[in-house]
Amino acid sequence: MKSEILKFPQKFYWGTATSAYQVEGGIKNDWSVAGEKYNAGLACDHYNRYEEDFNLAKEMNNNAHRFSIEWARIEPKEGEFNQKEIEHYRKVILALKEKNLEPFVTLYHWTLPIWFAEKGGWLNKDAPRYFERFAERMAEEYKDLVKFWITLNEPNIYTFHSFLRGIWPPFIRSWFKTRQVFKQLTESHKKAYQVIRQISPDAKVGIAYLKGKSMIVSCEWIYKFLDSIKNYQDFIGLNYYVSSFSRSLWAIIIRSKKQITDLGWQICPEGIYHVLKDLKKYRRPIFITENGLADRKDEKRAGFIINHLKWVHKAIEEGADVRGYFHWSLIDNFEWDKGFEPRFGLIEIDYQTLKRIPRPSARVYAEICKNNAISI
Ligand code: BGC
Repeated sequence: MKSEILKFPQKFYWGTATSAYQVEGGIKNDWSVAGEKYNAGLACDHYNRYEEDFNLAKEMNNNAHRFSIEWARIEPKEGEFNQKEIEHYRKVILALKEKNLEPFVTLYHWTLPIWFAEKGGWLNKDAPRYFERFAERMAEEYKDLVKFWITLNEPNIYTFHSFLRGIWPPFIRSWFKTRQVFKQLTESHKKAYQVIRQISPDAKVGIAYLKGKSMIVSCEWIYKFLDSIKNYQDFIGLNYYVSSFSRSLWAIIIRSKKQITDLGWQICPEGIYHVLKDLKKYRRPIFITENGLADRKDEKRAGFIINHLKWVHKAIEEGADVRGYFHWSLIDNFEWDKGFEPRFGLIEIDYQTLKRIPRPSARVYAEICKNNAISI
């Protein structure tokens, strides 16, 4: 059979995503002190090896990279900003720019400075003000270097696990507090949005949402959230892993080993198409800020990427304004309460030696990025 080439729009961003706590190592925050299981320790030592990691991203022909700044490093004590760490992230950003990798900077990817957590974290009535102050400082420092800002990563997943299920710090189980935190995060985002745009009028500011995983955390909350911040976002970030469609009876019936990841998550590429079509109504550019799978043997990753991109392409053809795709993740990393076992990286980390070993799928992704196209 003849293969078909599907081209993506011009100037499409191709990248990978990481978050500080999951890769950097040596961070003291509310997670690292929550017990052995939550301590990422040295992680991938990305804090010291970012140059090497970005070179690998460059070798994959990426033109963008999403990462997060660790608030606990920048403001380790209330109101005291650490200039050394500010300079560290400046170097990180400059390293990306030198390699023509457009930085997409996340300000909050689930971890908090200890002082902030001790004050009640997001439940503190002044939380939005504290977050705004952090965002303001970051925008001031990096305004000439960073155009794309993601204020919050997956507020829905965070509140769900941390305040409803109580399995992540601060381990609370309360419907009332979940709602409170959600409101606070909304407020925090709005304030951060405004202050970043004030300092840097050309900046593009958004949130990364997770659509999928389960009914409760996907549909209603997301749409409520999106509606409440309608006028406070320049783009929509979509993190897509599994579709809520996969919970349908049909999906359960056809569930087979072939279609699940190492974490047992169902692989459902067409779901991304439906989500993208749904998001069209917000009339904002969309970036796929995460998409990936745990696949230690790398048997499914290349196919996973191509199949998802096929559906992304279809959504684009039907009018979804998708401007970029970030694979989760560049390197294997610390998977929250699941530790280092799940392997999400295009590049494998040997945790004994910290050696980086590109998986075969990295070559496939490199081809896609080079051609700005997939071949199916
Ligand atoms: C999170 C990542 C996480 C990934 C895989 C996403 O929802 O943003 O931090 O590693 O899921 O579970």
